[in-house]
Amino acid sequence: MEVAKIRSKFINFFQGHGHEYIESASLVPNNDPTLLFVNAGMVPFKDNFTGAANPKNPRAVSIQKCVRAGGKHNDLENVGFTARHHTFFEMMGNFSFGDYFKKEAILMAWKFLTEELGISKDKLYVTAHHSDPEAADIWEKEAGVSRDRIFFRGDKDNFWEMGEVGPCGPCSEIFYDHGEKFSDTGADTSECILDDESRYVEIWNLVFMQFEKYKENGEIKRRSLPKPSVDTGAGLERVAAVLQGNYNNFDTDCFTDIIRKIELISGKSYSNHPHWMRVVADHARSATMLLADGVLPSNEGRGYVLRRIIRRAIRHIDLLGVSKVSFFELVGPVLKSFGGLYPENNKNKDFVEKYLRLEEESFRKTLFSGMKLLNNEIKDLQKNNIKILSGEKVFTLYDTHGFPVDLTEMILKESGLGLDSSGFDAAMSEQKNRSKKAGDFSASEDSQKEFYEIYEEHGDSKFLGYETLESSGRLLSITSVNGKTGLVFDQTPFYGEGGGQMGDQGIVSLDGSSFKVLDTKKPVHGVIVHFVSETEGKFIVGSTYKLGVDEKKRKLTMANHTATHLLQSALIETLGSHVKQAGSNVGPSRLRFDFTHPEALKENEVKKVEQLINQKIREGISVIPELMSKDQAMDKGAMALFGEKYGDEVRVIDIPGFSVELCGGTHVQNTDEIGHFKILTESSLASGVRRIEACTSEGVIDYLEEQNNVFSQVEKLLGVKGEKVLATLQGLRSDLNKKSKELTTLKDQMQSLSAKSKFDGVEKLQNGMDFKVIEASPEEDIRKLGDLFIDKFKNGLAVIIQGKGDKISVLFKSYKGVKDINCSNLLKDIFGELGGRGGGKPDMAQGSLDLSKKDQLLNIISQKIN
Ligand code: SER
Repeated sequence: MEVAKIRSKFINFFQGHGHEYIESASLVPNNDPTLLFVNAGMVPFKDNFTGAANPKNPRAVSIQKCVRAGGKHNDLENVGFTARHHTFFEMMGNFSFGDYFKKEAILMAWKFLTEELGISKDKLYVTAHHSDPEAADIWEKEAGVSRDRIFFRGDKDNFWEMGEVGPCGPCSEIFYDHGEKFSDTGADTSECILDDESRYVEIWNLVFMQFEKYKENGEIKRRSLPKPSVDTGAGLERVAAVLQGNYNNFDTDCFTDIIRKIELISGKSYSNHPHWMRVVADHARSATMLLADGVLPSNEGRGYVLRRIIRRAIRHIDLLGVSKVSFFELVGPVLKSFGGLYPENNKNKDFVEKYLRLEEESFRKTLFSGMKLLNNEIKDLQKNNIKILSGEKVFTLYDTHGFPVDLTEMILKESGLGLDSSGFDAAMSEQKNRSKKAGDFSASEDSQKEFYEIYEEHGDSKFLGYETLESSGRLLSITSVNGKTGLVFDQTPFYGEGGGQMGDQGIVSLDGSSFKVLDTKKPVHGVIVHFVSETEGKFIVGSTYKLGVDEKKRKLTMANHTATHLLQSALIETLGSHVKQAGSNVGPSRLRFDFTHPEALKENEVKKVEQLINQKIREGISVIPELMSKDQAMDKGAMALFGEKYGDEVRVIDIPGFSVELCGGTHVQNTDEIGHFKILTESSLASGVRRIEACTSEGVIDYLEEQNNVFSQVEKLLGVKGEKVLATLQGLRSDLNKKSKELTTLKDQMQSLSAKSKFDGVEKLQNGMDFKVIEASPEEDIRKLGDLFIDKFKNGLAVIIQGKGDKISVLFKSYKGVKDINCSNLLKDIFGELGGRGGGKPDMAQGSLDLSKKDQLLNIISQKIN
């Protein structure tokens, strides 16, 4: 049974049993800082279980994209080594939110497996939590499973939890017996035959959700859920393996096309390299799906997990002997393998390919040097019988060569070696301390938890800043981040940094004392934190403060933000629909916009973009913010900010006839408030990604003043005014060209003069050849010197030495007609003994050596020549 059929059978079966089909949520958990990625089918329904949300239908069925590559559920290290671990997989699940419970869940699962999919009952075994005889009874009496196929197990196997906090409960699992030939003879099955995990594979987990774990005052506590619920999960790839008579998930049609493509790219066969190809195929799926859901490779958080996955994949492609950039070629087969189930991902195909290509190009620049270093280290360790690579070396690989620690660890493991992770951590924290900026308000992952707790206690800070710049606010909480005091109020007109817009500055005051707000952030959804420079003791929780945003700065920021929307549309209109936002930063004085485009903008394109925007500014178009459902916004053609996740209700900024974007930022009411738009710089950010910096309104005036200032100084320096500056500069430039030509001729003449004396005392060798070792001064051009020698003697060999700090450059130059001298071989021969680097051709070779080797060099040359 093909995987597409399994998917549709599952959805149809549960729809037939009153479940509403819910499309897979994004892999990035919606506003849940406790979780790195969606790691199970129940994650998007978390609030339905806890009672925070009230779903229309208490029964749901879904096929959820899942990634387990970090946090509590992490399968990264196992991929490729086992038959069924993946970083990305699809989880089929049916859910009851306080509706049916154990009996229905068990009976539906059993019916689906044995009747719909036709799996033989003889191949199935089940488990229950040891505290749950009720589940075992249902299996026996209602489903008809014989007692000897039902096993009780403890928390380790039969208690499921989402993460450190979240809904959880005892579970009951269904196992498939792949047959004796797959038995792991080393497994300890004294307690339960299912401990032979090679032979018996869990294919479905029925979780009877009854509790929620939560954090209070830093402690994890457990409470009962309002209503007992059901969360089930069946790994699609495992079920496909069973139905397709395969033992290994990678041999199912979930992977066929991907692996075929890897074979094509590498020219190698899967049967000869199953491990490497499985790793690449698995990672191609997770990298594609994460990028398509807006995670971008970066050096922290989710982005770093993605980067690690991509780099591991590239290292394996490299092992397969592929040295050209090719990982991105797997995106097509990956998306095809899901058969259109995740349509939003297909839309991002070009984007995903582009980013994978960029990431591979950049990693390949250091992969070779890093591998060389690591291989040398491995040889050294083996020679000296040491088993652990030092933390400092691991750090160099990480910092200079871009090797994530787990990649280094994996490569070391292949040679039976390990690494010193605490030494690495120490080197890492030392670097962090070095680069910590004093004024950085960014909340670290740790302090994020604190803000999440504030959110749990107080809920959203009400944002009033769309309508007003002044309000009162009751102080709810005071925190400290990097030595700065952060204030959270029940309501505020201050905009917390987000969606590329910088946070507001301004004043908070109480009874005549006022305090400067230096920055405002939103470290977790809904919590707006005002950072002030004063100490915590100055503030009183519970008091009502007056909050006032710096009006001038905010208005300039709004003009820049609306201009950023105009810029995106103008770029698409001018350059094409491939332009996609890759980042932005909007403040009072500048705006910055990063976007995908393969080459530098031409001068006329820059002009056209500016003209288009200024035209829209002069048209005086109303800017209309609207709240609507996500679907309505998409119907309206709204551009979603890439990588940004939105709730069911979204805010749309409509500039009718020109731009519609999803955006939570603050904007002018009419484009004419922007005044004027000017691009300041256009540059490359990474290959395929461009950056534009621009300014608007008063920023343009400041810019013009600055330019004017510079021009006045130029006028003064040149002693002419206005247009004459141009002619004067052109005149100066041609004078300069003339002079520099004269200078080159003079230098050449001087060099030939001084060369003459350098060529004194040329030796005649036995074979009649002229030979001389020449010491050049640091400012001399040694190649030219070599040419002069050959011109003069039309014969022979010159060895030219030039000191450069603690190194010397050495040039071997021979007359082309001289047959018995090969400069390249001579250099290799001599440098082979002395340990220098270089190379060249038969009539010229050049290299560099340590200064300390100079005497040895002179000796060897004279030996070799004579
Ligand atoms: N949440 C459970 C699991 O992931 C069942 O879906 O195994």
